[in-house]
Amino acid sequence: MEKGTLIIGGGVIGLSIGWRLRARGEPVTLLERGETGREASWAAAGMLAPVSEVHFQEDVNLRLGQESLRLYPEFVAELEAFTGKEVGYRREGGISVSLHADDTAELRHRFEYQQALDLPVEWLSATEVQNLAPALSHNVVAAVYSPADHQVDNRKLVTVLRCAFVQAGGILHEQTPVEEVRLLEDGPPAVRAGGREWRSEKLLLAAGSWSGMIPGLDGALRPWVRPVKGQILAVRAAPDLIRHNIRTPDVYIAPRADGRLVVGATVEEMGYNADLTVGGVFELLRGAWRAIPGVYEMPIHEIWCGFRPGSRDNAPILGETEIPGFFIATGHYRNGILNTPVTAKYMSELILAGTMPEILAPFSPARFSG
Ligand code: FAD
Ligand code: GLY
Repeated sequence: MEKGTLIIGGGVIGLSIGWRLRARGEPVTLLERGETGREASWAAAGMLAPVSEVHFQEDVNLRLGQESLRLYPEFVAELEAFTGKEVGYRREGGISVSLHADDTAELRHRFEYQQALDLPVEWLSATEVQNLAPALSHNVVAAVYSPADHQVDNRKLVTVLRCAFVQAGGILHEQTPVEEVRLLEDGPPAVRAGGREWRSEKLLLAAGSWSGMIPGLDGALRPWVRPVKGQILAVRAAPDLIRHNIRTPDVYIAPRADGRLVVGATVEEMGYNADLTVGGVFELLRGAWRAIPGVYEMPIHEIWCGFRPGSRDNAPILGETEIPGFFIATGHYRNGILNTPVTAKYMSELILAGTMPEILAPFSPARFSG
């Protein structure tokens, strides 16, 4: 048996926990089926928006997201200082807009809920929103500004996390799909990958939407995650035309430093169907054009899709299973980029110390038992 932790899956979750474990001196080996960071973590828009995206009655998710956002500046500073590479972290905030009266009623309802939760939000008139983001349509009737919501370039983030993991001494095996997990009498399961068996003191499953598909994990040990397809695209605009995350009832628009505007995303229960459809792309472009008329003239840069790992209650699954030494970190659904620092910090603490941090308690795999 090897010392340390074996990780299955090299997205933002597996890589960031691996990096944090290495920083504390833990030996870590990570097995990745393909190339690291090319699945959901690549497909995402990079919004760090727990305030704009608050859902009614999902207070534990909000708390997790807020804690992660609080950790973000230090997480990014440490990552960038360690690797010498930047991840495109921006703090401009988010603007949720309404384009007609029905939208305004919904926006107002959410605004009142955000206020009741003491979240930092500001109601803007049409004139105020034009001053803040002049490229927005003159049809914008009202808006809510969320200064606390931030953004990151998730493709840079996952690429830099890979560098940090390797630079910190993590052992990475790409093109090494885990084909089976074998339960043992003593200790965490062994895994079969790359024509051999791997066995470590601790095992962490972080295989995104594929986490429940590895043979050998049955019953209560199998995390129930499903793929939730998101079609998403990018258009090319002048840098700084848009600086905030923009959210309409139909789409969101996340700006990149080079001017690209990422427009997302569909939410489809289609299994692993990766088709890019006319309807999906049409709705995204129409939604973006309604919010920012100038989109009509912009070149399309890229269209892609990805699979969000969604659990039964759409909240993450974080913690130790009923087998001591076997941990799960998956099910981050629409917020895995946001929840990277909080997952990395507290899961690495749990793996090293063996005690469940309070913030992770609501997300324990045990909540699905029975
Ligand atoms: P992944 O990135 O999917 O990584 C899992 C890895 O495991 C993959 O590399 C895969 O190859 C590997 N793997 C799978 N099976 C095996 C195996 N058998 N053996 C070895 N390796 C295996 N979140 C936000 O916070 N903000 C956003 O704006 C945002 N926008 C999104 C937009 C879209 C369109 C999508 C699809 C997602 C978005 N998300 C967003 C969600 C976020 O992308 C995910 O929650 C997050 O990336 C999940 O990270 P992960 O590491 O768990 O999964
Ligand atoms: N959080 C954005 C998305 O999942 O599309």
